[in-house]
Amino acid sequence: MLKENLTNALSKQFNFELYSAYIYLEMSAYCDRNGLKGFANWLNVQAQEELAHAMHMYEYILERGAYPVFEDVKKSPYDFENITEVFEKTLAHEQIVTGRINDIASLALKENDHAAYIFIQWYVNEQVEEEANAEQILQQVKQIGTNTALLYALDKELAARVFVNPFPAKTAAN
Ligand code: FEO
Repeated sequence: MLKENLTNALSKQFNFELYSAYIYLEMSAYCDRNGLKGFANWLNVQAQEELAHAMHMYEYILERGAYPVFEDVKKSPYDFENITEVFEKTLAHEQIVTGRINDIASLALKENDHAAYIFIQWYVNEQVEEEANAEQILQQVKQIGTNTALLYALDKELAARVFVNPFPAKTAAN
């Protein structure tokens, strides 16, 4: 059974993943309202991934015989007035997530819970990709600046992102 401190840490992260989805949905709505449907799609898919992470953690807590702790989901603290700021905040947010995931990994090791440590390793790897994706788009929008033709070209590219459930076998089994 999952120890109480790890149950609490994973529950807080389950909540934080829901909060992350909420943040990305707000960013998606902002892009949609500003004519950037491709960016809106990319952020909507990002929100769906965060929901999948939340459900994965929720199911893991139950699987380990513990009970998830439910909290209020806060509204986004981020303000943004242009697309560059949206991706500055996205990268900053993913860096916060990375720190939290690393803390959970450290706690799992401290508690000698190797199953929880292996579980959280998926997120350690995922965060490398999450930060790289946000960083790449941030660099692109910075380089594009006020060139609307290039901005719309990138918008078209981001419209192609589709949500792929990162845990399909798990979902099928449940
Ligand atoms: Fe679930 Fe973007 O980290």
